[in-house]
Amino acid sequence: MLKTTAHISRLVLPGLINRHGSLFGGVALSLMDEAAGIVSTRVARGPCVTAHIQSVDFEEPIWEGEVIAVEAKLIGVGRTSMRIRVETWGERLEDGTRRRSTAAEFVMVAIDKDGRPRPVPDEARRALEAPEPPGT
Ligand SMILES: CC(C)(COP(=O)(O)OP(=O)(O)OC[C@H]1O[C@@H](n2cnc3c(N)ncnc32)[C@H](O)[C@@H]1OP(=O)(O)O)[C@@H](O)C(=O)NCCC(=O)NCCS
Repeated sequence: MLKTTAHISRLVLPGLINRHGSLFGGVALSLMDEAAGIVSTRVARGPCVTAHIQSVDFEEPIWEGEVIAVEAKLIGVGRTSMRIRVETWGERLEDGTRRRSTAAEFVMVAIDKDGRPRPVPDEARRALEAPEPPGT
C-alpha cells in the first residue's frame, strides 16, 4: 500500500543554531522540503521537484537540545502536482512536551527524465482515501 506521509526527527545541536540559541529558520525549511520530497517521490514513484512553498510563519522557536520533528502528509493530487502539508514541532525530550513551530503547504511536481512534468499515478489519488500503512 502506498505511504502518503513522512517523518523526520533531528536533534538540534550547536551547528544548527543562531546566536539566540534557537534553530536556524533555513534549517527548518530545508528539512520541510526534504520531508515533502520524500512524500512526493513515494507517491509519484519517481523524481519530483518543489514548485511552490506557501508562506511560512515561524510560530515558536526550537531550542538547542530539543528535537525538531517534521511531519509531512499528502493532502491533494493534481495531474502532475501534489499538495503536501508539512509541520515542524519542537520537542523537549526530558518531558515530551511539543510545540508547533511552523506549518506550510508545498506543491511538488513529478518530473520525467527531461525535467518536464509527468502525470502522477492514479494509485496516489486512491491512497489519499486509504488508511495509512504503519512505519515511517
Ligand atoms: C515545477 C516545474 C517542473 C513546472 O514546469 P511547468 O512547465 O511550468 O509545468 P506546468 O505549467 O505544466 O505545471 C505542472 C504542474 O505544476 C503546477 N505548478 C507549476 N508551478 C506552480 C506554482 N508556482 N505553484 C503551484 N503549482 C504550480 C501546475 O499547476 C501543474 O499542476 P497539475 O498538473 O497538477 O495541474 C518547473 O517550473 C521547474 O522545473 N521548476 C524548477 C523546480 C526546482 O528547481 N525546484 C527546486 C529544487 S527541487
